[in-house]
Amino acid sequence: MAEKISFEAPRGMRDFYPEDMAWRNRVFDAFRAAGEASGFEPYDSCVVESYDLLARKAGEEVGEQIYHFFDKSERHIALRAEMTPTLARMVAQRQKELQFPLKWTTIAQCFRYERMTKGRKREHYQWNIDIIGEDSILAEVEVLQAACDALIRMGLSSGDFKVHVSSRKFLGELLQKSGIPPEKHAQVFLALDKRGKMPDAEIAAMLKDGGLSEDEVKATFAIMDTKSYEDSPELKELFRLAEIAGFADCLEFDISVIRGLSYYTGIVFECFDTAGEFRAIFGGGRYDNLLTTIGGEPTSAVGLGFGDVVVTELLKSRLGEKAAKEKKGVAVGFMFPEQRDAALKLAASLRKQGYSVNLQLKNQKPKKFFSHADSSMAAKAVFLGPDDVEKGVARLKDMQTREETEITL
Ligand code: HAM
Repeated sequence: MAEKISFEAPRGMRDFYPEDMAWRNRVFDAFRAAGEASGFEPYDSCVVESYDLLARKAGEEVGEQIYHFFDKSERHIALRAEMTPTLARMVAQRQKELQFPLKWTTIAQCFRYERMTKGRKREHYQWNIDIIGEDSILAEVEVLQAACDALIRMGLSSGDFKVHVSSRKFLGELLQKSGIPPEKHAQVFLALDKRGKMPDAEIAAMLKDGGLSEDEVKATFAIMDTKSYEDSPELKELFRLAEIAGFADCLEFDISVIRGLSYYTGIVFECFDTAGEFRAIFGGGRYDNLLTTIGGEPTSAVGLGFGDVVVTELLKSRLGEKAAKEKKGVAVGFMFPEQRDAALKLAASLRKQGYSVNLQLKNQKPKKFFSHADSSMAAKAVFLGPDDVEKGVARLKDMQTREETEITL
């Protein structure tokens, strides 16, 4: 007997069945609307990048997660793990012609060979919004406002999520005050970013490996208890401006936010659900040196990446699994083959009037037709029988209220 072959999507890669697409569209629609509402211009690029560009920040977790291969001409190629290096490359390439500040946005599919956990896949779509060429803290406020706006548009409220905000600059100042010199800060950030993911003892060991003395390690952990941002003028200004913009209730200061990527230089933030059930919803910050590290002119930048995986899980849990399936359009069916032409004509006429029409392709019993229409996306349904066609009228049924209205054919 022949062996039965069965294929599945590769581990960590997703298929999108129509019910999954309903969710994806709901999330993407909110991304696009929020980006547009805040004046971000869409851009895009190919998912394939040169490995060298993506691996420039080697040694980090994301660097180790890159899917890469050699093409037939021995070019070292990679699937992008994030959009930021590509954005920096695109901006550097046209730095002389572009009008700064730029406000750019994209929804980019990204690939990371990650350990599969809740909320982490090996492929995800990531909404990116970035402002390039602006030093003002208002740039941070604008990207944060747009991201919170997207969450609200998806149907969540400010009680469902909080953006945890900190500043690498502020943390650097606190470390320096404790006698830890700036050249050790990168190492300290890397270790502190692991807090919550590994035991403090291991983090202490990492810090010691990075050249910190016993006392410096102690001081570092003490800094992690900082609850006030009063000594940071930029954080104070950020919270003040968020208050004016009306979304300060979505933010909170959290010194423990470091971010895993090394290119951040100032404000950093990460958004979580308030119940603490899920992984980070989005993350980002200021990265003022990235362009120079890939050969561009010095340019300040701030932005964020907002994945589709975690937020979809959160939406399903808060709004219900079926919430994305929006009822719309009209189902048209017919009882006998003799009514087929009339049904087709009615469908064409309704489509011309702007309705979305799902025409049944074969004659059906009414019970079967209405039960199918009910479980499909149809908000309304018309079923043509011999009498209807003879009289030139039909009944348009509202699937929710079961009310019927007469329409002429
Ligand atoms: P990131 O924190 O690595 O930052 O990713 C941003 C977001 O992408 C995460 O908060 C999460 O929603 C989503 N994400 C990342 N990895 C996965 C995964 N394996 N599965 C599902 N979702 C994932 C960046 O990528 C920065 N480039 C963001 C940025 C843009 N910073 C400035 N501009």
